[in-house]
Amino acid sequence: MKILGTGSAVPRKTVTNDMLSEFLDTSDEWISTRTGIKSRQIITDERFEDLAAKAASRALDASGLAPDDIDYIICSNVANLYITPTLSSLIQGALGIKGPNCPTMDVNAACAGFVYCLDLCDALLATGRAHNILLVCAEEVTRFVDWNDRASCVLFGDAAGAVVVTNGGDDMLGHKMTCVPMPEVIVYCNPMEPTPFETGEGIDRHRTFEMKGREVFRMAVTAAANDIKDVIAKAGLTPDDVDHFLLHQANLRIIESIRTNLGQPHEKFPTNVERCGNTSSASVPLLLDEEVRAGRIKRGDTILFSAFGAGFVTGTALIKY
Ligand code: UT7
Repeated sequence: MKILGTGSAVPRKTVTNDMLSEFLDTSDEWISTRTGIKSRQIITDERFEDLAAKAASRALDASGLAPDDIDYIICSNVANLYITPTLSSLIQGALGIKGPNCPTMDVNAACAGFVYCLDLCDALLATGRAHNILLVCAEEVTRFVDWNDRASCVLFGDAAGAVVVTNGGDDMLGHKMTCVPMPEVIVYCNPMEPTPFETGEGIDRHRTFEMKGREVFRMAVTAAANDIKDVIAKAGLTPDDVDHFLLHQANLRIIESIRTNLGQPHEKFPTNVERCGNTSSASVPLLLDEEVRAGRIKRGDTILFSAFGAGFVTGTALIKY
């Protein structure tokens, strides 16, 4: 697997912590101290699929490939307006990829979606099922969080990040995907309509987004640090050999705990959570694109991706860029 190009897009609207404290019992001081977040970009009068297509188009341009060179499109997304058709098929149309020989599918591995999908891409490329894959991670979390719940709504932002991968290299040095079934720690249910044949008893409808923040925090720090060490060791390397640790941008304190645990310097842990908040599965590819375009990530660098989220899932991948 080789990453040929990266792209990203964020919505126009910037929402600062002070703007949130106008309608929520919160403060810039609380949010900054507990999470590191100062502001986030929030989707307003934009179409989510356009945001996703913009990131995809930028990744395609950077890859140097033509739209019809793409023979698989995979999207990572937790929830959006369209339950069906898939976001990946909408992106196919927006990019003018004619098909029909370009299958599309959406994957939901929560905030670990990018790492899970990268692993999937690696497998599809290795078996020759695909040659050039467009992977787009796009999230509009702010459209489904509970805006009355100050403990969760202040954490999130919206974004899209994309990569084009091809089967021209040996980028994947190691990977580890895990899941421990714990639906209670982060849960959001679709408000499904009842059928004419049911009483509705025992079915919890119209539930809002719920999260046990402290539990997620604790599990994230422990699981991510262990998985990162495991993957690096299995590749015959040490954390010192890794040039960049691109971690899920959920909370600066989580990133800091993992960094301290690994005994690595700040420079190796770029962040954007301060200005983007937690953008779910878009957070890692968004960060990757920012670092590549700023020239801080160069060809030949060793990059560790790590993310965690609802499930409870974790995904870790080590690549040579
Ligand atoms: O992609 C994965 C998604 N999830 C995560 O990554 C979440 C991981 N967890 C976290 O980031 C942290 O647990 C939080 C930032 C969510 C919360 O930080 P915490 O230090 O664990 O705070 P807490 O939940 O224990 O709450 C402490 C206090 C409570 O008040 P009392 O009970 O001590 O009086 C909360 O009611 O802070 C209160 N609080 C707030 N106060 C002001 C909760 N949210 C807010 C808020 N503003 N926005």
